[in-house]
Amino acid sequence: MINELNSTKVAMISGASSGIGRATAIALAAKGLRLALLGRSETRLDEVAEASLQAGAAEVSICSGDIRAESAVCVAVAGTIERFQRIDILINNAGLSLNGEVDGYQLADWQTVIDTNLTAPFLLCREVIPAMKRQRGGQIINVSSGAGRNGIRNMSAYCASKFGLIGFTESLGHEVRPWDIRVSALLPGSVATDFFRVANRLPEGNEESTGRSAGYAMLPEEVAAVILSMLSQPPQAWMSEVLLRPLNLELNR
Ligand SMILES: NC(=O)c1ccc[n+]([C@@H]2O[C@H](COP(=O)([O-])OP(=O)(O)OC[C@H]3O[C@@H](n4cnc5c(N)ncnc54)[C@H](OP(=O)(O)O)[C@@H]3O)[C@@H](O)[C@H]2O)c1
Repeated sequence: MINELNSTKVAMISGASSGIGRATAIALAAKGLRLALLGRSETRLDEVAEASLQAGAAEVSICSGDIRAESAVCVAVAGTIERFQRIDILINNAGLSLNGEVDGYQLADWQTVIDTNLTAPFLLCREVIPAMKRQRGGQIINVSSGAGRNGIRNMSAYCASKFGLIGFTESLGHEVRPWDIRVSALLPGSVATDFFRVANRLPEGNEESTGRSAGYAMLPEEVAAVILSMLSQPPQAWMSEVLLRPLNLELNR
């Protein structure tokens, strides 16, 4: 059954090199799953793979590449299926914002955000779904955002991509439910990760904004725990969307 998380299950996680993806990899590793980790930074993926094995993952593979490229996605999925013979879970988590006003916003930045946050999840779903159909089951979680429901100034490309991802998720969910494939959208509020540094175009290592600027934020491990609960629903239940808000707790717990 899909809702039993154990070493028979294979999970593919995009954006596993950092933040929510890293925390999700380690949480699934603790259940003994076999993992395929996607991201661009091979060094950081190596670190997450090591941490996942320490946490209890049965096996871990690394697919480093830019998921904006169709060829990179096809190679990553084909390699995962060749190695593990199946994919039970796909977490479409990789994503970024490049903040800026529409007046003066570069087309290249618009395309980076849309390609990473919307086109790449489409490509990954398209490549993974045939395997899930053959297995007659699977689960896909597309990490959208609260910004997928509410427009935010300086984040028009990001909001457009995350609104779009929700529409894509709903449509795909209806297409594949006859094969017992559940497609869900997760809409987190602020999470303390590298996201805000990237969005504000700050150099790596800059600690200035990790979500704390918002005054409140969840920890990536808390989002990972919610992802695990979404993967553990009863057989007939399809949790199609989860809106996850941070409580106004002090961050430095
Ligand atoms: N943090 C928040 O407040 C928040 C709130 C709502 C939703 N989200 C969403 O949560 C997801 C995870 O973000 P995070 O907060 O964990 O941020 P993060 O720490 O910056 O992680 C982003 C991940 O995406 C990967 N990535 C970005 N572009 C990529 C590309 N072209 N190809 C492959 N991988 C790529 C990065 O890997 P490399 O650097 O190795 O390429 C990294 O692993 C995103 O979809 C984000 O939109 C975040």
